[in-house]
Amino acid sequence: MFARSVYICRRKELKKLVGSGLIFFPGNHDSPFNYPANTYSFRQDSSFLYYFGIDQPEVAGVVDVDENKDYFFGNDIDLDDIIWMGPQPSIAEKGASVGVEHTGSLADLQTLIQNTIRKGRKIHFLPPYKARTLLWMEELLGIRAQAVRQFASVDLIKAVVKQRSVKDKGEIAEIKKAIETAYYMHTTAMLLAQPGVVERKIAGVIEGIALSCGGPVSFPVILTINGQTLHNHYHGNVLKKERMLVIDTGAETEMHYTSDITRTVPVGGKFSKRQKDIYEIVLEANMKAIKAIKPDVPFKKVHLLAAKTIAEGLKGLGLMKGDTDDAVKAGAHALFFPHGLGHMLGLDVHDMEGLGENYVGYDSEISRSDQFGLAFLRMARKLEPGFVLTVEPGIYFIPALVEQWKKENKFEQFINYSKVKQYLDFGGIRIEDDVLVTEKGYRVLGMPIPKTVADIEKVMKGLK
Ligand code: GLY
Ligand code: MN
Repeated sequence: MFARSVYICRRKELKKLVGSGLIFFPGNHDSPFNYPANTYSFRQDSSFLYYFGIDQPEVAGVVDVDENKDYFFGNDIDLDDIIWMGPQPSIAEKGASVGVEHTGSLADLQTLIQNTIRKGRKIHFLPPYKARTLLWMEELLGIRAQAVRQFASVDLIKAVVKQRSVKDKGEIAEIKKAIETAYYMHTTAMLLAQPGVVERKIAGVIEGIALSCGGPVSFPVILTINGQTLHNHYHGNVLKKERMLVIDTGAETEMHYTSDITRTVPVGGKFSKRQKDIYEIVLEANMKAIKAIKPDVPFKKVHLLAAKTIAEGLKGLGLMKGDTDDAVKAGAHALFFPHGLGHMLGLDVHDMEGLGENYVGYDSEISRSDQFGLAFLRMARKLEPGFVLTVEPGIYFIPALVEQWKKENKFEQFINYSKVKQYLDFGGIRIEDDVLVTEKGYRVLGMPIPKTVADIEKVMKGLK
């Protein structure tokens, strides 16, 4: 946990931003795996962590803006619980650790909420994303579970997005720790990426590294020789020499700050000419995009710079043709790069995505495009110091997509389909780093994880 003053300041600022009413932050519950008492690992809600910091199930926080009071609610454990779980600090002690002096049981929470409703006061809450929370809110607020999300407070969403988007020094230090874990995960995966190895063996080892460093993986491991499938969680393939292995993985710290890094390496450790040609284009897109990051630049512009770099590189290889600017404007590059350049990173790996991607990545100046590819850009708005983002361009040869576009003769003025056909067995390449927007520009966070052809080949030979 951070110092109690951090949580006090965050709640104070939140009160200013929201202005009036009562703000309710439900914590998460344990979630059964295969029978009620056998649960998934507990993960606290990220906004709850941001304002109240307490990492345990079945608690809630309330910020009464009008009365300038903060509350922390939960049930103290009894002797039976102590026998199974060991002694625990009381709810009052936990509240005090994050600067909250008003504490009570979950029954007290119910009374407070009911009194607030009776007085006709506004209750703000964020859109819940777990069924158990929806049911709890139905019980507390008297709104049907299915309808609860409709009543989420836009004022609160905007306030939380404003605060959580700008990371302070303590948060950046946590993200750097999460990247350090990712360094060990990635360099270990590189060493293990040899022909004959089954993907799950590497995926399991790196997930274990995340756990051994203090947190779970920040999202299910993507580790595949079929990188043309963007979020491929199947780990049953045997590594073959001519394939590239996409490793897209990150970890949480004990405080749940995340990392999200992608490296793509040739199975066996040596790039072929064809692999190197495509790899260098993605690397150039990654590095050019990173260098373009600075305050006030719209991230959409950075995305388009990466798209142009990819289109220009593919033109050099004869896979695309025509005017690069026209091709990117039309969206032809999206055959090879059909996703957005990146997203915010923080307590969630796609930070605050549950609050609504358009509130996080778009604003009144920049709205979402409906063009294939560009429409998937999660973050488009102007950058500000303190934002942490991923930069993750890629090139993929997706046989079903190529087949469909070719059938439609789509963008035939920009795409050389006969050449593309020769790459249908290629797979995909993605390179992803986590970048902080600074006052003057950018800083790639964490210890450098090998990404040039030379550095990857060196590491895969077992050299430092
Ligand atoms: N690295 C996985 C994702 O950003 O969706
Ligand atoms: Mn990512």
